[in-house]
Amino acid sequence: MVCHPWWRGGVFYQIYPRSFCDSNGDGIGDLEGVRSRLDHLAWLGVDALWLSPVFPSPGADGGYDVSHYCDIDPVFGDIAAFDRLVAAAHARGLRVLLDWVPNHTSVQHPWFHSSRRDPDGPHANWYWWADKPLNNWSSAFGGPAWTYDEARGQYYLHLFTAAQPDLNWNEPGVQDAMFDTLRFWLDRGVDGFRADVVHLVGRDPALKDVAPRAEPGLNDLVNSYRDPRTHEVLRKVRGLLDSYPGERMMIGEVSLEESADVVTYLGTSEDPELHLAFDFSLLEAPWDAEVWRACIAGAEIAHAPVETSPTWVLSSHDASRHRTRYGGSEAAARVAAVLLLTLRGAAFLYAGEELGLQDATVGRERSRAPLGRDPSRAPIPWTIEEPHGWTGSQSWLPWPPDPGCHNPQALRRERGGILWLYRRLLELRRTTPALAHGDLELLDSPPGTLAYRRSLPRATETAVTVVANFASTHRLVPYDGAVLLESSAPDRRGALVQPSTRQLLLAPFTAAVMREPMPHRPG
Ligand code: GLC
Repeated sequence: MVCHPWWRGGVFYQIYPRSFCDSNGDGIGDLEGVRSRLDHLAWLGVDALWLSPVFPSPGADGGYDVSHYCDIDPVFGDIAAFDRLVAAAHARGLRVLLDWVPNHTSVQHPWFHSSRRDPDGPHANWYWWADKPLNNWSSAFGGPAWTYDEARGQYYLHLFTAAQPDLNWNEPGVQDAMFDTLRFWLDRGVDGFRADVVHLVGRDPALKDVAPRAEPGLNDLVNSYRDPRTHEVLRKVRGLLDSYPGERMMIGEVSLEESADVVTYLGTSEDPELHLAFDFSLLEAPWDAEVWRACIAGAEIAHAPVETSPTWVLSSHDASRHRTRYGGSEAAARVAAVLLLTLRGAAFLYAGEELGLQDATVGRERSRAPLGRDPSRAPIPWTIEEPHGWTGSQSWLPWPPDPGCHNPQALRRERGGILWLYRRLLELRRTTPALAHGDLELLDSPPGTLAYRRSLPRATETAVTVVANFASTHRLVPYDGAVLLESSAPDRRGALVQPSTRQLLLAPFTAAVMREPMPHRPG
C-alpha cells in the first residue's frame, strides 16, 4: 500500500506572529491573537500552521536572532499561551510547526555571553572565533562576515547580521544542546519545524575562501554553500523526529538555486534527512508561463529519482507578496493560487495571500527588517472597520492597501472573492485523490499558457487537468471534460466551453481545473 504521510501533500500556512493578530493592545501580534483566529484557518482548510520565531529575541532580525530556544518572548505571551494554542489547533485538526534557527543565535544568548567572556569555559568553541578574519566571506545582509568582539579580543563569524553569531556545529555540545531544543518542543506536542537556513550548519573547520562568482550578489555565500557535515547533522535530526509518534516532520530552508541540489538534503530512503525542503523557484519566478513551466519541470525531474515531494511557495516574510510582484493584479494572483494548490507536493501559503493582500508601503522611519523586508510583514486586517480586529494602539507596521476590503469579514460575504477561491481549491484538493497524491505530467499548450495533468495509476480515479492563461489576451486550449473550478469570479465567465470544437476559451489571466478525460494534445 502506498503511504501518504500528511506532510507530503500538506498545505502549510505561514504566520508571521508580530503581524497576525494582537490580543493585548500593544499593536504587536501575539499567541492569543493567533489562537483567536484559528477558526479562520480551519474554515479555510489548511493542514498546518507554521509560526515564524516566537522565542525570546532582541529583534535584530525579526525574531531570527534567538536568545532562548525553549521559551516564548513576552511580547507574544508565555509557554502557557503556547500550550493553549497547540491544544486549540489540535482540537481543530490543525498541526503546529515552530521555526528552528540552528545556524546562529542572538549575541544576547547566554551561550554567546559565556563564549565571549570565557575562552577556556564550557562554551569557548561553540562559535567561530579567530584572531583575524579567516576568509573572504561576506554577510548575507552586506558587509564582512567577521566582527571584532572587545570582550574576547577576537573576531567571530556571522553569515547574517553581527547580532547573529554562527554556531559551531562541529562541537558535540552544540549538537546536543540544539537537539535538546527540538525535544523540548516535541515533548510539548509540536508537529514539526521549519528549519532556518539549515543547509549552512555543516562547516569545514578550515573555513576556506569562496571563489568569487561572475555576478556577485548579496546572498552569494548563503545561496551556494555546501558541506557534507550538514547531511550528518540532518540524518541525526531525522532520527530524532522519527523517534516520536505522530509523523513529526521538518521542512528545511535550503537556499540553493537548483532543485537538483535542494533534493540532496532529503537524503535517500535508506538514510533520510529532511522530510521536505523549500523550493523557492516560484517565489522568484516572473509572471511568465514558460518560466513556470521550467520551474515545475525542474522540480519534477529532481524529485523523481528520490521519490520525494516538491514544495511550492509564492510569498513569504522575506519576499514581496506575489500579488505585488504581479503588478497588483488580483486575477494573476488567483491563477497563481490555482496552480499553487494543484501542483504535486506540499504547498505553503503566507498569511494574507488568501485575502489578496499586497505589500504595504513602509517609510524608512518605520522600517525594522534588515534588507527592508517589512512591506510583506504588514499586519493582517480581520474586520472591515478600523482598527480591523486589532486591539488598541497603532499596529507596529502600517496596513497593507485597502484593509477595509481585504479582510475575512468582508470577503466571507463575497462568494466570488479570492478567499472563497482558496477555500474551494483546498476542498477540491482534499476530495480529489489525483490532486492530493497523483503524479504530474506537463502537457503541451499554446504560448502564454501552462497545462498539466494530475493522475493516479488506478484507472478508477479521475484524472484532473489544469490549464492557465498567463497572457493578457484570450487563448484557446484543448478541452474535453468538465470544468470543476475556475480562477475568475463566477460572474466573469473566465473559461468558456466551445462544444463544437471541443476547446476552451480562456480569458486573460484565468485558470481552470477540469475533470477527465484529458484534453487532446495539439499537433
Ligand atoms: C532565513 C529567514 C530570514 C532570516 C534569515 C537569517 O532566510 O527566513 O528571515 O533573516 O534566515 O536567520
